[in-house]
Amino acid sequence: MDRFVIEGGRQLAGRIQVSGSKNAALPILLASILVDEPVYLSNVPRLRDIDTTLELLRLLGCQAEREASGDVVIHACHLRPEAPYDLVRTMRASVLCLGPLLARLGRARVALPGGCAIGARPVDLHLKGLEKMGARFSLEHGDIVGTCAKLHGASIILDFPTVGGTENLIMAAVLADGETVIENAAREPEIVDLAEFLRACGAVIEGHGTSVVRVHGVERLHGCQYRIMPDRIEAGTYLVAAGITRGRLEVEECPLAALDAVVAKLREMGMYIEREGDVVVAEARGELVCQDVTTQPYPGFPTDMQAQIMALMSVARGAGTVTEGIFENRFMHVPELCRLGARISLSGQTAVVRGVDRLTGAVVMASDLRASACLVLAGLAAQGRTVVRRIYHLDRGYEAMEKKLAAVGAAIFREKE
Ligand code: UD1
Repeated sequence: MDRFVIEGGRQLAGRIQVSGSKNAALPILLASILVDEPVYLSNVPRLRDIDTTLELLRLLGCQAEREASGDVVIHACHLRPEAPYDLVRTMRASVLCLGPLLARLGRARVALPGGCAIGARPVDLHLKGLEKMGARFSLEHGDIVGTCAKLHGASIILDFPTVGGTENLIMAAVLADGETVIENAAREPEIVDLAEFLRACGAVIEGHGTSVVRVHGVERLHGCQYRIMPDRIEAGTYLVAAGITRGRLEVEECPLAALDAVVAKLREMGMYIEREGDVVVAEARGELVCQDVTTQPYPGFPTDMQAQIMALMSVARGAGTVTEGIFENRFMHVPELCRLGARISLSGQTAVVRGVDRLTGAVVMASDLRASACLVLAGLAAQGRTVVRRIYHLDRGYEAMEKKLAAVGAAIFREKE
């Protein structure tokens, strides 16, 4: 297992590049199952979750390769309908193959994703929506087994705007008979990217990015070339890195529009964030001040930035609250931040953060992807040496993070445990 060693207290300065979006790439890779011609994808980040997805696609019978150029080519020519537990348990997003497999083959056997460090995360809404389109499900030996004749269009009102659920239903609907209307759909930019990819393959979709998505089923899709959007959470993490080190970063490929709620909050805290030419400049010019943050579905403040902004607030003036509105049990970074000297108390789904003058380095343990990012950020600001253990979580979702940070002045090293 690898860990990061960080000598904190250095101001970051320079240009930092954002990679392709993990959460857009995962559904798009799995949506390629819907297409019986080769699909060429660029800007696919080099991450463990992406490798897992390529492996899953191969197990499902697809050709799925990364070319020397970095582009990924997928050809879903000979499909098999089974996604085994060994793979699914390492990556919950595997459940996104359910919709595409049912649409293409009329059957799917996908291991039920197990418990997850950030709460129960059921998939009931995915199944309920697919049932409305004509699928039937049973649970056999820990696997979700789905069957259907040809899926048909349906009117679906989601109880909650689930991101993965909206994606699964859009994917299932593109090859269904007739029109599907998904109300209370999630509006995340990654859903827009998925829909744009599917449209490039010939799908007929409207309203993506709003809470009512309409999909008119077509007979078949054709191959295409598509560039994955930049990763808004990685970009947001680097904006916070500039703030927490009181530095100045020029962020390349920063999807500013998709980061509205994050940028607004960082500006309220006192950061300077503006597009200047082809980069977004993020700088902490004066003192930063704690604010109150509540995570919500898009366009609200993203839960995937909750841990990072908490790290920033832990060294800002005054006090503020961070309320988690999406996941139960997503505060595992709090005791670790406290080990670095942060003053945070928890009450239910709300953390009260009282800013301190400085954090001090310590050994801390990463518990999930975004918690890891939060601990790295805190380590960059802490006095002395911070060791972040179990960074395999981080490798799931941040491409070459230590190299990118080192290139803008951080003293950060990867070591074997
Ligand atoms: C996606 C993102 C993840 C992000 C999350 C919320 C990917 C690969 N992952 O996860 O990084 O943190 O959106 O922005 O894109 N729920 C149900 N029943 C369901 C589905 C969801 O109760 O059938 C609940 C979940 O338990 C959770 C909430 O809805 O409390 C949000 O989940 P969802 O929006 O589905 O998140 P994911 O798609 O899993």
